[in-house]
Amino acid sequence: MHTEQDPYDSVTYPSFSFIDTHPDRLASMAILHGLSPAPVERCRVLEIACNEGANLIPMAYAIPTSEFVGFDLARLPIERGQERIRELGLRNVRLFESNLLDAGTELGQFDYIIAHGLYAWVPEPVRDRLLALCGELLTPDGVAFVSYNAKPGGFVRSMIREMMLYRAQGIEDPLQRVSTGLELLRFLIKARPEGDAYRLMMEEQLKKMEKVGPQVTYHDEMTDAYHPVHFFEFVEHARKHGLQYLSEPELPPPTDPCYRADLRSALESAAGDDMVRQEQMLDFVRGRVYRETLLCRAERVVRRDFPAEPLRRLLLASQATSAPGETPDARVFRLPGGIKMESNHAGAIALLEALAAAWPRAVSFEEIEPRLAEAGFVLDGEGTALLMRLVVAKLIELHAWRAPVAGAVSARPRASASSRQEARSKALATTLLHARFGLDDPVQRSILMLLDGTRDRPALLEAMKAEFPAIAEQELEARTESGLRNFYRAGLLEA
Ligand SMILES: C[S@@+](CC[C@H](N)C(=O)[O-])C[C@H]1O[C@@H](n2cnc3c(N)ncnc32)[C@H](O)[C@@H]1O
Repeated sequence: MHTEQDPYDSVTYPSFSFIDTHPDRLASMAILHGLSPAPVERCRVLEIACNEGANLIPMAYAIPTSEFVGFDLARLPIERGQERIRELGLRNVRLFESNLLDAGTELGQFDYIIAHGLYAWVPEPVRDRLLALCGELLTPDGVAFVSYNAKPGGFVRSMIREMMLYRAQGIEDPLQRVSTGLELLRFLIKARPEGDAYRLMMEEQLKKMEKVGPQVTYHDEMTDAYHPVHFFEFVEHARKHGLQYLSEPELPPPTDPCYRADLRSALESAAGDDMVRQEQMLDFVRGRVYRETLLCRAERVVRRDFPAEPLRRLLLASQATSAPGETPDARVFRLPGGIKMESNHAGAIALLEALAAAWPRAVSFEEIEPRLAEAGFVLDGEGTALLMRLVVAKLIELHAWRAPVAGAVSARPRASASSRQEARSKALATTLLHARFGLDDPVQRSILMLLDGTRDRPALLEAMKAEFPAIAEQELEARTESGLRNFYRAGLLEA
């Protein structure tokens, strides 16, 4: 039951959207691993500990034919979320105040269950009930997302937070607890020689705490519960509730040690073909600190060989842009984050160019198959392996749902109402693809808020001139155009 002392009521925890929790991502990974999860556009989603609903509300907005339910122990965040839902007029999402210890089958069954930022921060009975609830409420082909702090990396965090907690003993005020803890950490850093391993560990933790700010630092470091677990412990815990490991929401990146041939024989001799043991060994190599694990029912058959058939059931997308390469037959593909690949493989070029042309929309393999066949790309063993390499490299995204994004910037562009609502209170908006879009530039932020579908270009410019009289008209016009293009490519504009 709620009490006035509820820490998430007394110190606000900033609420965000998390792309890895989106049912599109959960469904894509389930399909890739041979499951048949519920279609994203006709599913039920539960978020446990949803805070203000910053994750659930944009999802519900973008997928109006699915149903979304969220609950949290803290009353004030739930009230803020309910107010947002009322204002947006959404009828497919419901938030309510509840302790997960009191939740049960009265909620019905869910195709996707999300519990982000909870497992490591609650006492043992709550952790156990969380996984029990996933076991009770998940549909037969359902997927649960549970994030948690992992060992061995979690030991470093434990070591530092325990020293901070010791120093802050007897201090009641939350933010003073944080400043006292940080003061100790800065003192310890200074007291050690530069470049020293112990100092480097503390510097890294301090940097993280400074980045997330005092409110998050209070909840994450200066309250009692913190229980990082080894991957194998988490999987065993899930097994007790009839669940098994499916995957993480994304395949490991190309730099991950799981692809290193020089480690393979050591891994095999320590773990054989036991996937959980292998992953655990890899976590030791990675010094893993955090995991986002997808679970499915223990009786499902999970395929880990990635054959062509699931890829035909998925949609493909790429936000890469393409430019000429060093040789006449080569192209360079670049992602906004800086990832770059040069290729002279005709099939890979045809595939990436077809997807780049469709972005921000996703397309099925079937839709582009004739064009690819001309370039000699077919989804045989070799084609499938190439496609999967491009997925691992993040040049290609897998989707299970067509987000309702615009295919062009229209005469009267309309940004999603939920993103415009977010932009009113913070310099951040969630796109229809559920990615976060930074709005630190006040001009961009204002343009986004004006995109309600009623304004053509001259009306937009007039409104911007009124808001920014100090900026020259020509510059405002250029910034409006580039803003519109950025919003369109980010998937903020509605179809
Ligand atoms: C660290 S915050 C994470 C919030 C959000 N899921 C996120 O990742 O940003 C933890 C949340 O769990 C909620 N919580 C803690 N114990 C709970 C319980 N027993 N039942 C329901 N919610 C709980 C808190 O109120 C808080 O909103």
